[in-house]
Amino acid sequence: MVFAASQSTAPTDAEHIAAIARLRRERNAVILAHYYQEDAIQDIADFIGDSLELSRKAAATDADVIVFCGVHFMAETAKILSPEKTVLIPDPEAGCSLADACPSEPFAAFRAEHPDHLVVSYINCSAAIKAQSDLICTSSNAVDLVNQLPADRPVLFAPDQNLGRWVQQQSGRQLTLWPGSCIVHESFSEQALLRLQADHPDAEVLAHPECLPHLLDLADFIGSTSKLLQRAEHSPASSFIVLTEPGILHQMRRKVPGKTFFEVPGTDGCSCNACPYMRLNTLEKLRRCLETMGPAIELDEAIRQRALVPIQRMLDMSR
Ligand code: 13P
Ligand code: SF4
Repeated sequence: MVFAASQSTAPTDAEHIAAIARLRRERNAVILAHYYQEDAIQDIADFIGDSLELSRKAAATDADVIVFCGVHFMAETAKILSPEKTVLIPDPEAGCSLADACPSEPFAAFRAEHPDHLVVSYINCSAAIKAQSDLICTSSNAVDLVNQLPADRPVLFAPDQNLGRWVQQQSGRQLTLWPGSCIVHESFSEQALLRLQADHPDAEVLAHPECLPHLLDLADFIGSTSKLLQRAEHSPASSFIVLTEPGILHQMRRKVPGKTFFEVPGTDGCSCNACPYMRLNTLEKLRRCLETMGPAIELDEAIRQRALVPIQRMLDMSR
């Protein structure tokens, strides 16, 4: 007689989703997700947003636990704003090339070379950089905030030089730029974009300001992920070529199912237009972090308090 070997089958997505729903209730947890998360995580989140909206949610929630489905600096910002809450991240390796491009000590030396400058840092940076900044901004409020700064003070902008150049152009202010960049937004192929434009001449080109300047020159509309989503909804155009991480296309297609969206591949057709950090989070890791209540974000209290000041200033100054 032949016996079938007992096989342990991996849980299905439906099982993970049911377990996450149960654990979320038991833990009084809120699941926040950025638009660059995989579709299944976006679908199960309590709230999806851009960096500014997610930090506002993190500051306002009355949940005991925040599960941050995004990258490390986003979860860290949530912890800075809500130190009494447990902040979980499904994969602690979910970093960001911009945050990595701006280490604390060289940044302190850069600041020391520009002692009269106001320091404006993009939220895509570590708590240690935030603690050395006068003001934090996101891609959705950077131009507005820089426009509010005293005209007689020079400004140092870190860590994204592409966003910084765009802010410079929009605000007319000269900025001293830290030379960081996003590996995803620098990967889009100009040739593929031009081909898509030739094939779909009526399509509007939507771009995130982290893109390289020569690609931003080809865009019809530039903004944060939320602003790109709003533009897709309200624009009279019926098709769009989207120059940002393709996770956002999930919400675009949900919000305006009658419109057509094209993603732009990376150079040489690589799939490097998907953020390798954001995509480390999975349903399975999300379930596991709620089961084990870890990994949780921990911060040095002195750094947290210093980092809170420029974040709170941003929230107060944002319209
Ligand atoms: P948003 O502020 O537009 O959400 O951008 C975050 C980000 O990491 C872009 O790469
Ligand atoms: Fe960082 Fe770029 Fe990924 Fe955004 S898309 S999290 S800026 S590496």
